[in-house]
Amino acid sequence: MPELTDVHAAWLPPEAFRAIGSRRARVLGGGALAETVHDEVAAACARYGGSVERTGDGPCDLVLALTTAGPLPPVAAAVLAEAGPIGEEGYGLARRDGVTVVLAGGPAGLLYGLFHLVRLGEAAFGPARPVERHEPAMRRRMLDHWDNIDVHPVMGQVERGYAGGSIFWRDGVLRHDLTRVRAYGRLLAASGVNAVAINNVNVHATEARLLTDRLGEVAAIAAELRPYGIRVHLSVNFASPIALGGLPTADPLEEDVREWWAATTARVYETIPDFGGYLVKADSEGQPGPFAYGRSHADGANMLAGALAPHGGVVHWRAFVYNHRQDWRDRSTDRARAAYDHFAPLDGSFRDNAILQVKYGPMDFQPREPVSPVIAAMPATRLAVEFQVTQEYTGQQKHVCYLAPMWRELLGFRPWGQDGRDVAGVVTELVAVSNVGDDHYWTGHPLAQANLYAFGRLAWDPCLDPAAVLDEWIDLTFAPSPEPLRGTLHTMMDGSWRTYERYTAPLGVGFMVRPGHHYGPDVDGYEYTPWGTYHFADRDGVGVDRTRATGTGYTGQYPEPWSDVYESLEQCPDELLLFFHHVPYGHLLHSGSTVIQHIYDTHFAGAEEAAEMRAHWDKTAGLMDPALHTRVQELLDEQLRCAEEWRDQINAYFFRKSGVPDARGRRIP
Ligand code: GCU
Repeated sequence: MPELTDVHAAWLPPEAFRAIGSRRARVLGGGALAETVHDEVAAACARYGGSVERTGDGPCDLVLALTTAGPLPPVAAAVLAEAGPIGEEGYGLARRDGVTVVLAGGPAGLLYGLFHLVRLGEAAFGPARPVERHEPAMRRRMLDHWDNIDVHPVMGQVERGYAGGSIFWRDGVLRHDLTRVRAYGRLLAASGVNAVAINNVNVHATEARLLTDRLGEVAAIAAELRPYGIRVHLSVNFASPIALGGLPTADPLEEDVREWWAATTARVYETIPDFGGYLVKADSEGQPGPFAYGRSHADGANMLAGALAPHGGVVHWRAFVYNHRQDWRDRSTDRARAAYDHFAPLDGSFRDNAILQVKYGPMDFQPREPVSPVIAAMPATRLAVEFQVTQEYTGQQKHVCYLAPMWRELLGFRPWGQDGRDVAGVVTELVAVSNVGDDHYWTGHPLAQANLYAFGRLAWDPCLDPAAVLDEWIDLTFAPSPEPLRGTLHTMMDGSWRTYERYTAPLGVGFMVRPGHHYGPDVDGYEYTPWGTYHFADRDGVGVDRTRATGTGYTGQYPEPWSDVYESLEQCPDELLLFFHHVPYGHLLHSGSTVIQHIYDTHFAGAEEAAEMRAHWDKTAGLMDPALHTRVQELLDEQLRCAEEWRDQINAYFFRKSGVPDARGRRIP
């Protein structure tokens, strides 16, 4: 097996396999994924002096076996008896009589069990360990690439990509060398991801052809990801029957259209038998969809689901549908309401293999939004929640912003109050927009890798502690990770999302970014545009009135208790106050501060924290590859510059609007 990690700076350097590589291992069970596991162990053993065999009954330190692998060694059989039934992707793990045993219910479980051992390192081979059983919480753990084949004149090649070009395509063609795609699959498998949609949800003319005459490229990518248990999905253009099939319509209820999709999909499965399915952005930001024919989103999604069903595929249908041609003077239209208004009435009308993919918040991946009310409103629909690992609104991979704490909070939110299920318990899948490109460090900012890793881990187990996940990433990336590196990374990263929130948009208001590229501050940048993203600041106050009593009525989209909590000025949590209410600058927060003083204080504090981060990083010089250290250092300079820009613009803006001076007399330009 080629050495993939030496040339690609990410987690899983060879060192991470030292503990396994110095053991006598046995890998039992057939199939491609068992081969992958064997090859991984063999590569580690070649490096660290261990050995691996596929059969035999001699002494060994490690057994990795499928439960179906025929007669199991007695120690493994005993572990199986205790573990009970293990699911397809699950595994049991134990150590007894000096043997570490990983037992998998299916081939993918063997792979995930192997990577669990890698995380444990030497601890997997220490004292006896009782039987643990691990199963993923979400059946699909998926990354969406917003990659184009061609370089888009405005968006570049990867839409909202901050890590260079696509890892799949270059100069308008599939890359000749897909080594990096294989390495990507390996990194993802180690975090638990099992599906990847390879192209942008905005499907342009060239990329639409991946479905038909360029399908071979999809097959080639699928071949690289398959050994790591990852199925490939494709974003498709709803108008494909017209653009690719020469039909006069894409009406989902038209027989010719249905036949075209059925035949096209059958060809996809002839070429890629384990193809995952389609991802669709329809009637959204200019993409075609069923509305053109007077049909509903359910009509559109079900038609595609019907074409995929005979082959076991699924359609991910995005709920990101809103009017992006609003008149800012019209106070009755509220973008936050849109997804619920469009989709909640359709609950129960989607086919089983149609999955409604909902962004975590009602707006668009802001650093602070309430959980989308759609998640609680569609009990009879399969839901996926969508995160954004690519840092469009969270610093564009120039800023350190560890997102796992935000995701953890969102997944743990209980839409029906303390006694009800949480978001993780409602949705069946977790999806996120990938942050990867052809950059040497994969993600532009080397520390942004932690977000990619953490996404997969939280999709596997939404209850994981973000700080513990960060530890895993640190250990797997900087193995062995010497102090003070670990401590410094925690100091810099654990609270970095909140730091980012502090120096950017306050109290849940959002979207105070430069229009178009969305980097850096511009308080009024979107205020008079058609996008529906407003803050309504004037000389007296700021915030969007989304109450039922006097506003857009959005609070009514939540079940109790949140519909009342958000409606009430007294009960609304501080961090979302301006999302739900328009208040005077002197309004007193629960924290005891006024809104205007909170704005000043958090912006001064946020910029200071960015400066501290920069100072902390200096302490780690000499503890890693100097090039990596320098890359982060340069980015921290930019983060600090940008944080100060945010601080000054936001503070100056609100000082000029309100005329209220900073109670602490600090300089506001
Ligand atoms: C955001 C983003 C777009 C993207 C869209 C989507 O609006 O800025 O680039 O296409 O989300 O999620 O579809």
